[in-house]
Amino acid sequence: MSEYVKVVIGEKTYELPVIVGTEGEKAIDISRLRRDTGYITYDPGYANTGSCKSNITFMNGEKGILRYRGIPIEELAEKSSFREVVYLLINGELPTQRQINRFSVLLNDHSLVHEDMRTFFENYPKRTHPMGILSSMANTLKSFYPYLENQEEEINITVTRLISKVRTMAAMSYKMSRGHQVVYPRPDLSYCANFLNMMFHTPVKPYEIDPDVVKAISVFWILHADHEQNASAAVVRSVGSAKTNLYACISAGISTLWGPLHGGANQAVINTLSDIVNQGTSMKKVIERAKDKKDPFRLPGFGHRVYKTYDPRAKIMKRMCDTLLEKFNITDPLLDAAKELEEIALEDEYFISHNLYPNVDFYSGIALRAIGIPTNMFTVMFAIGRLPGWIAQWRENFYDAESKICRPRQIYMGEQKREYIPIDKREKKGGDLQPLFTEFQTDKYPDISFQE
Ligand code: CMC
Repeated sequence: MSEYVKVVIGEKTYELPVIVGTEGEKAIDISRLRRDTGYITYDPGYANTGSCKSNITFMNGEKGILRYRGIPIEELAEKSSFREVVYLLINGELPTQRQINRFSVLLNDHSLVHEDMRTFFENYPKRTHPMGILSSMANTLKSFYPYLENQEEEINITVTRLISKVRTMAAMSYKMSRGHQVVYPRPDLSYCANFLNMMFHTPVKPYEIDPDVVKAISVFWILHADHEQNASAAVVRSVGSAKTNLYACISAGISTLWGPLHGGANQAVINTLSDIVNQGTSMKKVIERAKDKKDPFRLPGFGHRVYKTYDPRAKIMKRMCDTLLEKFNITDPLLDAAKELEEIALEDEYFISHNLYPNVDFYSGIALRAIGIPTNMFTVMFAIGRLPGWIAQWRENFYDAESKICRPRQIYMGEQKREYIPIDKREKKGGDLQPLFTEFQTDKYPDISFQE
């Protein structure tokens, strides 16, 4: 017999159906609640709200499980390539040899960026954050490739274009920010190797492709490829729910990811570790600030809405840091500081009682530093990795017969109806405008890298 939940309002009892997911997770279906009862639910940050049914990614935050299309993240990181994971997330199944060959050809065919777009890159002010450039450029693609008529074939081409060009644009913005000659994609290189070559090749010092570094970038992107209904994926779905074009949805996703509570945390972690190592800030002070409710500072790279145990991605990332540093024979004081800070936090009563563990961003910056990626490109690296997830989420929403325009309700707590007062009769009631955003400066140390 189907399960129901009873809601009693005054004299009346309403039965709400229960939906059960394939992994046994349960949800109360409130989709007819307002219509039947006149009530809505209150759930800030949608922490208890299932906004869709999805077949893409499964997470169990208590057990630290993450699977894409049913396949554990640990297995994908070990055995798969990023290109294959892109295919898996967007199309639902791992590709056959013929399918992956075809996908590679398409990625190569669409890897170039229209030369006219260079004008935009060239005219950004020097210290513009690359996430701002990437978000604008993703939206600008719509002007250069405008024809998207919701036909399956055109959607496939747009998807391939985005996957290939966003990577090219990211490397291009880095090269231009350094005043270096742009390196074009090479058809003989894989997706990840191509990116490294576009980033680091120069006419005076040809870039030598190192399979271990290519594998590290591939794993880095696989770990970031999707994370079910996180803030940016929810935004991509939300913008898409208005039937807005895919480029604009991705641009909105990139902007959301930029925030230090989301993907911007990888840069914020490095800022915090640099404060400790280079400015002499004590770890104790950092931990105390993170626990202080009057201080908006939180320990970046710690905590997660879903994970209440160690993030499975962070485990893999931590191992990757050790492997990369050993390979390059680098001693990174930031890695030592990170490990010590983690140890202190994991023994602290506040962190224990709040189930706060390292998330993927805690160690990812150290891995990227070892490869030579500058700090202000960290969140861009996250964005390239998350792109297939956003596209898969957008696509699922697009074809979902139950999907509706995202339009939450609210509980109005403002003034009741009142009269308009002419300006000469008004008395000052509220305060003056307050300055915003003084705390979170993710681009504090924009260029910390070993290979600068
Ligand atoms: N440092 C100190 N306290 C924390 C932290 C932290 N990093 N994270 C959560 N808390 C506390 C929070 O103050 C709250 O305490 P209390 O219940 O006493 O008021 C409690 O833990 C629960 O936190 P929450 O704010 O209800 O949790 P949330 O699900 O709304 O926020 C989060 C999740 C990731 C935004 C938050 O943990 C955080 O700000 N972490 C630091 C930023 C970060 O690392 N972000 C990357 C997330 S993983 C990559 C990604 O998906 O983008």
